[in-house]
Amino acid sequence: MPMFPETWMDELLQKTDLVSLVSEYVPLTQKSGRLWGCCPFHNEKTPSFSVQPEKQMYYCFGCHAGGGPIQFVQEIERLSFVEAVKLLAQRAGLELPNEVNDDALRRERAHKDRLYAACKEAALFYHKQLFSAQGKAAQAYLTNRGVDGKLATRFGLGFALESWDSLTGYLIEKGFKKEELIDAGLAIRGKRRDGCYDAFRGRLIFPIIATNGRVIGFGARTMKKDDQPKYINTGDTPIYNKRNNLYALNMQRGKRPADLVMVEGYMDVISLHAAGINNAVASLGTALTQQQARLIKRYVERVYISYDGDAAGQNATMRGLDILAAEGLDVKVITIPNGMDPDDYVRRKGKDAFLKLKDEATTLNGFKLLHIAAQFDLNTADGREGYAKRACSFVGTLEPVERERYAPVIARNTGLSLSAVQAQCSLAKPVQANNAAKNRNTRNKIRAAKENEPDRIECALLACMQTSRENAAYAVEQMAEAGLSFETKGFAGYADAMLVAYLSKEEPDLARVIAELPAEQAEAAALATAVPIEGETTAMIDGCIRKLRYRRINARLQELADEMNTGSDDRAELQQEYAELMEKLKEFK
Ligand code: UTP
Ligand code: MN
Repeated sequence: MPMFPETWMDELLQKTDLVSLVSEYVPLTQKSGRLWGCCPFHNEKTPSFSVQPEKQMYYCFGCHAGGGPIQFVQEIERLSFVEAVKLLAQRAGLELPNEVNDDALRRERAHKDRLYAACKEAALFYHKQLFSAQGKAAQAYLTNRGVDGKLATRFGLGFALESWDSLTGYLIEKGFKKEELIDAGLAIRGKRRDGCYDAFRGRLIFPIIATNGRVIGFGARTMKKDDQPKYINTGDTPIYNKRNNLYALNMQRGKRPADLVMVEGYMDVISLHAAGINNAVASLGTALTQQQARLIKRYVERVYISYDGDAAGQNATMRGLDILAAEGLDVKVITIPNGMDPDDYVRRKGKDAFLKLKDEATTLNGFKLLHIAAQFDLNTADGREGYAKRACSFVGTLEPVERERYAPVIARNTGLSLSAVQAQCSLAKPVQANNAAKNRNTRNKIRAAKENEPDRIECALLACMQTSRENAAYAVEQMAEAGLSFETKGFAGYADAMLVAYLSKEEPDLARVIAELPAEQAEAAALATAVPIEGETTAMIDGCIRKLRYRRINARLQELADEMNTGSDDRAELQQEYAELMEKLKEFK
């Protein structure tokens, strides 16, 4: 993460007032020293979202979102840290620090701005061509595929004339240089024709638009049957990389979709939108990347993959699943019957039929199991046995609940008894932590579920740590002595950040420290600032530590009881530990 100089960040935060920033999105009203509004991060009717002006922090008592101005912009505009800082800088009229004295950077930025401008002009040009006399055939082609003029405009679709220089000529007339057009992928360098010619000729144009609304690249489809390649896409340019973008994700800006439907093609997206399924995006014809998964995660927790039913599509789905799951997304797979793609299906069967398939979508592991089955011939004994082994060694690695669910599926597919399948499953490698379940992201979701509820005692400890360097040190010492650590997500990170700040300064500006923290830690901080300190701070710390120790002992006792019940070999040892802990517990009375 490129770091911004401290003094520059100070200036940025000084020039940024959280109250006016938040007010651009949510109306706030004053009540008991805070400003209140309806939380923009979850749906609610009574305000539980609060802003503390003097602390420059916000916190939602409903969904626990919280932080400073940077986190606010990150969450609401779905931006990365750096992007959020840049946006705030723009808002505050502040030049980015690295640009102030760096000519090369300035030139690069200026060059990129030219490429953005060229792409924008090109998109407008193509769009106009579509509705011109020369675009008649293209319009007819679209109509034939169920795309009317309104929809074409919504997606900014266009048409590139069957010409070597219509776009190039137009843009050069507008003052763009050949080099700029080549760099933007709009023109191709060639010996003849004044050194370059149009990249897209006689094709339908699908502009690719970044989430900030800028046109960055194009897909171009031939209108001739069997013409190869069917699609030509912008390659890597200084402003576009297909690995970092998703087609039509820009349409989700300012919306709060419950999930996304990920498809392969431009036309799949457009037909789904046409049918009223407005949360479809496409992966731009590549295997999904981690960058794309992260981008998705800024918007939703759950993705439905709906790739083509052919083998290539299925294999792409398999790879995509793992990439998405690894980022903590909840992944489901929509299977479309009879080798149709989503475009074919939704146009033939309609919205409700597609939504029904979505309802019936397979879970990630269910899909993997189907994929294993597809590799064997279940009509032969050998095939069934091969499948049983592979499927069991996969299902055996899943959590017990899921094993329970899939073992009967294997039994049914093979004709084996359930107990044989279960035995075979238990031969598999020990249960692997399920990544998807483990790092499932809970941001932007109402975190009412018990396990996600931030721990109150830990929270109070953080609040104490915020009061002074001495109290922070005292709390950490006491925790270390009792062998305790912060369990709530983000809490340990925030505690560390505080300690580092206290190391360099007696009274650090914690708002500054918090401003640069990752979201989870900033939430911890926001939460802690909302906790009142009651009485003497050290006494409050002692009280917290006591409660945490008490809870820990009880948890360990429960664990020991469970172990003894399963008939462990070291029963004597367990019993001794149990007795010792019971003794300790008495101290608390
Ligand atoms: P498909 O071949 O499945 O095409 O490619 P499609 O989306 O169904 O297209 P239509 O319906 O015939 O118009 C899926 C996606 O793969 C990429 C494109 O992004 C396409 O939408 N692709 C495909 C290419 O980039 N180049 C190609 O030559 C073909
Ligand atoms: Mn298609």
